[in-house]
Amino acid sequence: GKAGYDHYMLKEIHEQPQALRQTISGRLDVARGTVDLDLDLPENYLKSLEEIQIVACGTSYHAGLYARRLLEEYADVRCSVEVASEYEFTGGRDPWRTLVVAVTQSGETADTLRAMRKADAAGARTLAVTNTVGSTAAREANDVVYIRAGPEIGVAATKTFAAQVTTLSMLTVAIGLERGALAGDRASTLLHNVRGLPGAVQQALDDADRVRETASELADSEAFFFIGRRLGMPVSLEGALKLKEISYVHAEGFAGGELKHGTLALVTEDTPVLATLTDGANPQETLNNVKEVQSRGAPVVGISSIDAAESYLDVGFAVPELGELEPLVANVYLQLFAYHVADTLGRDIDKPRNLAKSVTVE
Ligand code: F6R
Repeated sequence: GKAGYDHYMLKEIHEQPQALRQTISGRLDVARGTVDLDLDLPENYLKSLEEIQIVACGTSYHAGLYARRLLEEYADVRCSVEVASEYEFTGGRDPWRTLVVAVTQSGETADTLRAMRKADAAGARTLAVTNTVGSTAAREANDVVYIRAGPEIGVAATKTFAAQVTTLSMLTVAIGLERGALAGDRASTLLHNVRGLPGAVQQALDDADRVRETASELADSEAFFFIGRRLGMPVSLEGALKLKEISYVHAEGFAGGELKHGTLALVTEDTPVLATLTDGANPQETLNNVKEVQSRGAPVVGISSIDAAESYLDVGFAVPELGELEPLVANVYLQLFAYHVADTLGRDIDKPRNLAKSVTVE
């Protein structure tokens, strides 16, 4: 059941600390800076790896975009992320040295399965990152890592996004260590932050009433824009997608630096801007974009971990210190915001029109 919540989506948002504890459970050794994901890769496979290609759709694609930055920075491996329906395999002379990572909550998304099969046919190695034991993706991939978020019933993916990013962060450490790209202290710091996620997410959830107030005040707006840089960018895409799919209001997310290249023309008093201003998201640069939209009268909601931000925001939400995982905590505020806008507008939140939980057509 919904355990007293009005919708599964809200229940699943609030379940995130517990879900992430499951995701992490038994996999981390923070002090030693090691992780164990029970991967059974051939000897030296990760050392000789040339490239990682992530394929995924929708929310899972956004998790892939988050992971790409971490992989490039901590595992010293070239990484691309592609929307699964657009994927074609292009690899080096030895396709086996390309690892294709399919990120799919359900493990049944047709576009993602098709991309995996293309990679497999070309001779690449495939790894599924999924929530669903025994799913098609889990069965067909060479390797599988489970995100262990527990069942998700609301159509909008929430706790599974958090569990995907968390799992991919641990995978990054595993790959970085194996490749000799990651020193023990950096690995420890990243894992320390992974371990801190459940608590930090809980802190965000404890502020849910204020998010509801802000969302209900802004719900009648014409459109919403979400901006953030670096790891704040995928989170902004995700915030906009969540809002669109359950509230039916137009929303767009993009890299903060892109604002001045077009979208700024649409910014008015009737288009709130939600900005991710945390560590891992180049907050000082994004503050410049905040000033640009504010001078055009847009209400600004900032999710931040930097003190300087407060004076530029109409409403601010705080993220505790968590390094590269702060944007993932910021995303929890965006989930709550989308939920409460949709709820204020009286939408059918768990079953939005035209959408299905598992998309098994191409
Ligand atoms: C959005 C949402 C979809 C899915 C997408 C991929 O809230 O749920 O965008 O993320 O359909 O689904 P999976 O992860 O099952 O492959």
